[in-house]
Amino acid sequence: NRISIIGVPLDLGADRRGVDMGPSAIRYAKVGEKLQALGYEIDDKGDIAANRPDSCYVDGTSLKYLDEIERVNTELCHMVAEEMAKARFPLILGGDHSIAIGTISGVLQHKKKLGVLWFDAHGDINTAATSPSGNIHGMPVAVCLGRGHERLTGVGGRAAKLDPEKFVMIGIRDLDPGEKMLLKELGVVVYTMHEIDIMGMAKVMEEAIKIVANGTEGVHVSFDMDVIDPLHAPGVGTPVLGGLTYRESHLAMELISAANIVTSAEFVEVNTVLDNRNQTAKMAVDLMGSLLGERVL
Ligand code: ARG
Ligand code: MN
Ligand code: MN
Ligand code: MN
Repeated sequence: NRISIIGVPLDLGADRRGVDMGPSAIRYAKVGEKLQALGYEIDDKGDIAANRPDSCYVDGTSLKYLDEIERVNTELCHMVAEEMAKARFPLILGGDHSIAIGTISGVLQHKKKLGVLWFDAHGDINTAATSPSGNIHGMPVAVCLGRGHERLTGVGGRAAKLDPEKFVMIGIRDLDPGEKMLLKELGVVVYTMHEIDIMGMAKVMEEAIKIVANGTEGVHVSFDMDVIDPLHAPGVGTPVLGGLTYRESHLAMELISAANIVTSAEFVEVNTVLDNRNQTAKMAVDLMGSLLGERVL
């Protein structure tokens, strides 16, 4: 029952300022206090130093800030693996979503068979060849499934990669053409907003949990705050209308918590510049509470 918090103030993957302050904003919204009140012992490891765009130099690839993103993710991978070796639950605060590369490769050092629940408005499964932006936060899923630039797929070693059949996406509503092709090719299970509307969140989570929990040693929750409707979570860099409601997102977290399957989690893409009175960071902290056992009664 010990949680290690690791902040990753990286915004290079989004190529937009503001998510670099995400870890501060989430701590300011009292993440430590919330989790302590739930009975956890908290060890805040602080932040991994990440350079700012103005002190980074062009890499000569179409992948923006590849050098620094590789470096930060390699460090994150090692830190996550180290905390897991101490039987701690790693809770990563982003930062842009490219940090999932480091988090997941770190978890994979300990759990070879890992399920992933990926909450996002986007697929984040572009490669340099399909990305419309060159932004690496749109690529971590491809990388974790072994596709993409070798300096990214190489983080944590080539051996450890995820099984696409144990990877489930929830809340998706914005995919680029190349992403749709790769999702189909790899056979990733995707619950778009359409399925959530038709089936309801409870049924979606029942199915999703079954898929990621069966035959795995653990489940990682990667939560991009832009999965939530911009009405409730305005502080994100790439908002998309028609997202999860406050209630749907909490219900999802509560059902995961009840299933007792999660072994690591990350909350990413909180953009403090675009946020309104730290509302999005607060929402992230509330969701962490529900994911880690907070109940009304
Ligand atoms: N699909 C777009 C891109 O690849 C947007 C990605 C947004 N990703 C995110 N983690 N917010 O550029
Ligand atoms: Mn997103
Ligand atoms: Mn798009
Ligand atoms: Mn994302």
